[in-house]
Amino acid sequence: MEKISVGILGATGMVGQQYLQLLVNHPWFEVSFLASSEQSAGKFYGEAVEGRWHMNAPIPDRFINLPITNINDIQQAKKSCSFVFSAISHEAAGLYEELYAQNGIPVISNAAYHRYFADVPVLIPEVNPDHIKLIPIQQKNRKWDRGFIVAKPNCSLQSYMIPLAPLHKEFVVQKLLITTLQAVSGAGHPGVSSLGIIDNVIPYISNEEEKSEQEPLKIWGDVGEDGITDSHNITISAHCNRVPVIDGHLACVSVQFEFTPLKKHILELWENFQGLPQLLNLPSAPRQPIIYCKESDRPQPRQDRNAGNGMSVSVGRLRDCNVFNFRFVALSHNTIRGAAGGGILNAELLMHQGYLK
Ligand SMILES: NC(=O)c1ccc[n+]([C@@H]2O[C@H](COP(=O)([O-])OP(=O)(O)OC[C@H]3O[C@@H](n4cnc5c(N)ncnc54)[C@H](OP(=O)(O)O)[C@@H]3O)[C@@H](O)[C@H]2O)c1
Repeated sequence: MEKISVGILGATGMVGQQYLQLLVNHPWFEVSFLASSEQSAGKFYGEAVEGRWHMNAPIPDRFINLPITNINDIQQAKKSCSFVFSAISHEAAGLYEELYAQNGIPVISNAAYHRYFADVPVLIPEVNPDHIKLIPIQQKNRKWDRGFIVAKPNCSLQSYMIPLAPLHKEFVVQKLLITTLQAVSGAGHPGVSSLGIIDNVIPYISNEEEKSEQEPLKIWGDVGEDGITDSHNITISAHCNRVPVIDGHLACVSVQFEFTPLKKHILELWENFQGLPQLLNLPSAPRQPIIYCKESDRPQPRQDRNAGNGMSVSVGRLRDCNVFNFRFVALSHNTIRGAAGGGILNAELLMHQGYLK
């Protein structure tokens, strides 16, 4: 199969770097276009990320001498790639993602900006793959032919929305209490200062609790004629904390169901869970999306964040809850499953379903 040419907007940032690392040997996609802000445009990639390359492996050779284009050069983008992954900051996403989609270039976004439009899917392929039905609605609403925007949720949501997916289907989630412990890489580069985070926990991440309380309702919402109608029957309360961990967002979750399950049923559902990406055998789909850790002190970021190449969610400590029905701990890699890996899985699903060519 001939690979399709893809671009990365925000290629120099934390998530952009992870995209390059994950796409270097991708069987379907070939990175042929890198774009960033004025400060990096015109430089070669290696030069632009000098002193701020944060991946464990060195910069893949083939990208070192790839030039960075100014993000506003749409003509160059049109010539160079058939769709883009967007890993740009919130404000830049507001400016450029629509411009690309208007110009016929589909955008697979990591940024929050477009998540709250009713005609933009917020996709986790194991949870709500049917929401890609929004794409033709979005194109009709906005009079776009080939372009569209598909977002993925906030980086901490994957850790609990994936384990909750099979439980919601069977027992119907009613209430959630979520406390996240989020890694510093989630704030991008330079992110929080070392003096602020070492030997410390910061009990506030701007807008993160609002996103955690709002986005699941859209993901569990229904596709109507004009867009998504959010689920109205679920109440969520979130506490989001920044902790001195490099990668891996942990979430402590208490959940109330409409129909109370037995603990063994939850464990069985987790063990046997296979979403659409697994059934379709998509290249980035982890064989086992939910891994239950039997040890009483797991999951832990350092030990478990790379499970399934960073695409599996590790879950543990399932037990009764004195306030709701059950509680558990869940962990996912924020720059892989929660960002670049999640974006790539979205693109693989869209390509499989004929939306990307
Ligand atoms: N880090 C995570 O775990 C994570 C997870 C999920 C989603 N996200 C989202 O993904 C996006 C990127 O996050 P990050 O952590 O990679 O941030 P980052 O390290 O701060 O990188 C931001 C990128 O955006 C580019 N950029 C900024 N302003 C721009 C402009 N006006 N025009 C063009 N490019 C511009 C930067 O380019 P220059 O370097 O050239 O300025 C850089 O490549 C954000 O929207 C973030 O909320 C992050």
